[in-house]
Amino acid sequence: IHLYVCRDYDTISKKAAGLVGGMVSVKPNCILGLATGSSPIGMYERLAEMYRDGITDFSKVTTFNLDEYCALSEENDQSYHYFMREHLFRHINVPDENIHIPSGCTQDMEMECQQYDAAIAAAGGIDIQVLGIGSNGHIGFNEPADAFIGPTHLVNLKESTIKANARFFQSEADVPRRAISMGIGSIMAAKKILLIAHGANKAKAITATLEGPITPEVPASILQLHPDVVMMIDQEAAAGLS
Ligand code: F6R
Repeated sequence: IHLYVCRDYDTISKKAAGLVGGMVSVKPNCILGLATGSSPIGMYERLAEMYRDGITDFSKVTTFNLDEYCALSEENDQSYHYFMREHLFRHINVPDENIHIPSGCTQDMEMECQQYDAAIAAAGGIDIQVLGIGSNGHIGFNEPADAFIGPTHLVNLKESTIKANARFFQSEADVPRRAISMGIGSIMAAKKILLIAHGANKAKAITATLEGPITPEVPASILQLHPDVVMMIDQEAAAGLS
């Protein structure tokens, strides 16, 4: 794992955008794996700038997102479809038909999960997967558990996650109970992984991920087994490292 401890969030965002943008320059038809959440927002702003400035052209890029809530429409401002449109896709030129985000609103969710992994494989696999990390070590919606789940799958959100997300909704009852997420196998199959984390509340998870045992209790710890991981974190997130 290549670890970069950066001065601040802005430096992380710049460096991360450099890596992803560099990939697009070297391989214009590359397959990007993308994440939502607060961590990649700065990187997405930089990538949008790189497009505006004529540095990076996304017209041949294909994207696959990690996850989505079930039963929220794509227009709902809490959906990850909405998030990606607002923070990235409306600012750059990835063709709509090349954008893949799992659907949380399909009748046959089992089929949706299978087809999602099949579509990634058919595209040739993810060249670089962007990840954030939860303060409990989750990646995607792969929460701490007794076993790693390989493929894209349905997740029942934990009571604690539902409570934590309630602030984004009108009431706790409006928070989705389920989500669809790429599994640990789907993520580990990416050729390269870029994990971004900042802030003191990520320190424990970063230490466990890099220095702890590989265990489904800390889903990100599996990244120790991946041959090409780059982590860009700030000093606060690095504070627990020996
Ligand atoms: C987002 C995702 C999540 C987040 C994680 C960190 O698609 O899959 O695993 O990456 O919860 O979230 P932030 O970046 O908001 O701290």
